[in-house]
Amino acid sequence: MSEDKTKLDGPDLSQGVPLSSLAEGAMLLGHTQGEPLILVRHGDELFAIGAVCTHYSGPLAEGLLVDDTVRCPWHHACFSLRTGEALRAPALNPVSCWRVEQRDGKAFVREKIENTGREGGPATSGMPASVVIVGGGAAGSAAAEMLRREGYAGRLTMLSADEAAPYDRPNLSKNYLAGSAPEEWIPLRSSEFYKEQSIDLQLGVRVAAIDTAKREVRLAGGGHQSYDALLLATGAEPVRLALPGGDLPHVHYLRTLADSRALVAKALVSKQAVVIGASFIGLEVAASLRARNIDVHVVGRESCPMEKILGTEVGNFIRNLHEEHGVTFHLGTTATSIDQRSVTLQSGEIIPADLVVIGVGVRPAIALAEQAGLAIDRGVTVDEYLETSVPGIFAAGDIARWPDRLTAERIRVEHWVVAQRQGQTVARNILGRRERFDAVPFFWTEQYDFGLAYVGHAEGFDEAKIDGQLAARDCTITYRRGGQKLAVAVIHRDLEGLRAEVEFERTIAAREAHSARAGAPS
Ligand SMILES: Cc1cc2nc3c(=O)[nH]c(=O)nc-3n(C[C@H](O)[C@H](O)[C@H](O)COP(=O)(O)OP(=O)(O)OC[C@H]3O[C@@H](n4cnc5c(N)ncnc54)[C@H](O)[C@@H]3O)c2cc1C
Ligand code: FES
Repeated sequence: MSEDKTKLDGPDLSQGVPLSSLAEGAMLLGHTQGEPLILVRHGDELFAIGAVCTHYSGPLAEGLLVDDTVRCPWHHACFSLRTGEALRAPALNPVSCWRVEQRDGKAFVREKIENTGREGGPATSGMPASVVIVGGGAAGSAAAEMLRREGYAGRLTMLSADEAAPYDRPNLSKNYLAGSAPEEWIPLRSSEFYKEQSIDLQLGVRVAAIDTAKREVRLAGGGHQSYDALLLATGAEPVRLALPGGDLPHVHYLRTLADSRALVAKALVSKQAVVIGASFIGLEVAASLRARNIDVHVVGRESCPMEKILGTEVGNFIRNLHEEHGVTFHLGTTATSIDQRSVTLQSGEIIPADLVVIGVGVRPAIALAEQAGLAIDRGVTVDEYLETSVPGIFAAGDIARWPDRLTAERIRVEHWVVAQRQGQTVARNILGRRERFDAVPFFWTEQYDFGLAYVGHAEGFDEAKIDGQLAARDCTITYRRGGQKLAVAVIHRDLEGLRAEVEFERTIAAREAHSARAGAPS
């Protein structure tokens, strides 16, 4: 997912293009002064912003215009056409923005407009004097950054049990593990960033307890930290398998950068791997290990990988994809023991292995929330503002179970973009915005040269309708329950994925408008 940034497509927009060539709602890809950009007409206005997404360099010209924003086709980041600001994760940085002049029936892209950030900043009265964030992952880091972007000037502390500063966790099972992403791509920010932003990032610091009466967190190593507002963003932990040999040194789990580094080091000297678990992490690991030419066997309890989430047809397709890349599946069974050289299955089969990776799911890390007496329901219960049962304490990311606007059910998901967007919403709510979390869930997976993006949330569906050619990797799968459209997965149809996201958002908005008209609480 990288593109050649030196290649400039389209016209030099500083030379001017006829206004008649700029259709409403279309994007013209061009360049100026060596930089690619898109020129857009929105009503009577013209906008020019950078054409390369600041997340993984996705091509914004192939994205979707929605009002005065553009959404990236790859992982649905959203940028303002007016300012270039990254309005939605996973992009964290703005794109450049240029002034456009209309003259003699033409549009000319002129000088760059300095991104001055938001005007003003929040009123300081009623602001919490200090914010503590527990967790330095997707939700925690996105919240810390958004607090500063929104102008919060108070004390801001991020406590993370991880030894590494916030990093790109999804990459750990993909390019980084496959050896195609260098280590320097992994941190989300430079080491100076947190100092510059006055974010007191404390690494290797585990919070052991929360005293909600005293408004302080107690640290495992001793000491405490007081807060006025608190965000719990402790993520999830891999489910550990208690089986003989499960703690041998060649048995790995994958959650942290340290885990991935250890796995890479072991992969360099391994020939045969057994991956226990046939869901996303297991299959992404299998693909990455195949890229390193390691013989891979995947063991899973299910009869069809990912069937529960993606349906039988897509599950079988993914299985075939892996088999074409040389992976051997052992499904409908599980591992019963591991020794130095092999893994024994319930079926009695013995598979040679000098590397074992266990990816059998995660559990939300809710011990702190439980200890603090917060309401728990298979996750930390939050309201639509992502506030827990204790005022002033918020939860976001893998631990949060929130009222989903689309299904009207309480859901908890384990998606990178959702965690970041929740962190961003919490930041604004800490500043008193009372913003409902209504983003439609989104995740993606990459295995070999295959990519799938998923919008919505279908926890149980009775229909998975495929439109297009699955075998040709060009299709849209719509998941319904009781006739209600709950989620859409797209395979190499990025624009369809974006359109589905917008459609879900409009459904939510229409429902809320209806409830408001009816005078009912929404
Ligand atoms: C290998 C891998 C690949 C993935 N790929 C994808 C993908 O392709 N697409 C996708 O949508 N999602 C993916 N995910 C899921 C995604 O990474 C998670 O949903 C996301 O990271 C959740 O963010 P979070 O902030 O809730 O938790 P995390 O990012 O896990 O962060 C939790 C933080 O809390 C800290 N912490 C925990 N307990 C304490 C404590 N008591 N005190 C202090 N700190 C504490 C941890 O050290 C960590 O810093 C992947 C996950 C993994 C592991
Ligand atoms: S490349 Fe644009 S959102 Fe990922």
